[in-house]
Amino acid sequence: MSDPLDALKARVTAATLGATVEERGTVAAIADGLANVTGLPGAQLNEIVTFSTGARGFVMTLAKDGLHVALLDPMAGVTAGSAVTRSGRIASVPVGEALLGRVLDPLGRPLDGAPAPAAARTLPAERPAPAIIERDFVSETVETGILVVDALFAIGRGQRELIIGERQTGKTSIAVDTIVNQAAKAGGGLICVYVAIGQRMSAVRRVIEAVRTRGDPSRSIFVVAEATAEPGLQWLAPFSATSIAEWFRDRGDHVLIVYDDLTKHAATHRELALLSRQPPGREAYPGDIFYLHARLLERSAKMSKAQGGGSLTALPIAEIEAGNLSAYIPTNLISISDGQIVTSQSLFAANQRPAVDVGLSVSRVGGKAQWGAMKAVAGRLRLAYMQYLEMKMFSRFGGFGDAAMKTRMKRGERIEALLSQPRLAPLPLIVQIALLAGLAEGLFDDVDPTRLAALQAGLTARIAGEPRLAALAADLSALDDAQRAALLDVVRAALGPAGPG
Ligand SMILES: Nc1ncnc2c1ncn2[C@@H]1O[C@H](COP(=O)(O)OP(=O)(O)OP(=O)(O)O)[C@@H](O)[C@H]1O
Ligand SMILES: [Mg+2]
Repeated sequence: MSDPLDALKARVTAATLGATVEERGTVAAIADGLANVTGLPGAQLNEIVTFSTGARGFVMTLAKDGLHVALLDPMAGVTAGSAVTRSGRIASVPVGEALLGRVLDPLGRPLDGAPAPAAARTLPAERPAPAIIERDFVSETVETGILVVDALFAIGRGQRELIIGERQTGKTSIAVDTIVNQAAKAGGGLICVYVAIGQRMSAVRRVIEAVRTRGDPSRSIFVVAEATAEPGLQWLAPFSATSIAEWFRDRGDHVLIVYDDLTKHAATHRELALLSRQPPGREAYPGDIFYLHARLLERSAKMSKAQGGGSLTALPIAEIEAGNLSAYIPTNLISISDGQIVTSQSLFAANQRPAVDVGLSVSRVGGKAQWGAMKAVAGRLRLAYMQYLEMKMFSRFGGFGDAAMKTRMKRGERIEALLSQPRLAPLPLIVQIALLAGLAEGLFDDVDPTRLAALQAGLTARIAGEPRLAALAADLSALDDAQRAALLDVVRAALGPAGPG
């Protein structure tokens, strides 16, 4: 018979002893969506904490005097002295196929009235960027359907191309047109994630409506933290949206993410930093603002074959004031990205749509991703257009007598007309190539520029019906002489008897 004391001893030695300590914190101060919390020594950066009202927040900074917690829910009822508990979880977001077609907040909560998506898993909002060896060179094109971009500033898959300009100059429209154009691609274009940060709800609705009616909503995801959302949500939005996009990237898909816009994100970061009494730096932004956006945009990448070969292309949007590209946030963002498309108030006022400043815009890696057939027809376009703009400026002081000058002016006016494009009217690449081939051949020199827009519509069907162009339509990697001749025939036919040839 065993001794009951021995049995007890055995049980005691077998038991794993460990105290369960629940850390309890207290709100020391709270204002404008940021709480100072004391008494949670074990809390980690980005950890979710819960207030006594059930409202949640995440740890933004670990300071000497406690934690700075950005609220993710309305702060009503939370006051100095309220209790705070740790969750042990890092701020994260549900990801997966089920998010396609949805409008969600940065925590994955539905904003479209439908039930919460059945997520494959959750991912932390902040994740490390892919390492160099996990990446590949940017080599495939992102088709925007916007001629001025595809011809002059081609964007490659995995690239980060900033869209920057004054307010109301068509920045969002360039991104939305790119999203809409993905629907035109047989077999589906890029999966698109649009992130609204600090935008008016009416503007966000306009974007969603455009994609729903003209694009492919079943391959798009909207992550929305509008202007009235808690600063913590606005702060988190680009990071959690990137995690949503990365889930697709890492299974080999090609993904586009639009951050609309990072100027507002920077302002939210500044606001939270000032509330948490971080020392203000240049233009009152805290010193880490560069690092904040650098680590966000580093997550866009073209993945290597071993990593599935997917890609994440970023179109961050930024607003500038009075054309000032050299302000603090714009220069930061320009240096973090691989080029910029600059929109301008003066071009917008002069009725150019899209109002892209061809002189200031650049795409640093996209050239390598541009299709050979496009390269063959777009090579000298930028120079010819820039020369025309210069001549146009000087011609205001008196006309040109020179016949050669007149021809170049004429050609320039046609380039200008071709670079104009209404919203939500993306052009297939092969149509763009046909137009540029026609331009280079001088087919439009005697055509009224206002007629060129109507020409574009007719070209798509004619190209599809031309057997000599079937191979080119399937593969744009090069343009041979026979194909160029076929393109020119199609353009001549579309011009009709009124045109030349
Ligand atoms: N290609 C275009 N053709 C015609 N209209 C356009 C074009 N692009 C933009 N617009 C118009 O210009 C206005 C501003 O466009 P958009 O909202 O895209 O600009 P934004 O720079 O994003 O503005 P905000 O600074 O308010 O975010 C809209 O009314 C839009 O319809
Ligand atoms: Mg906008």
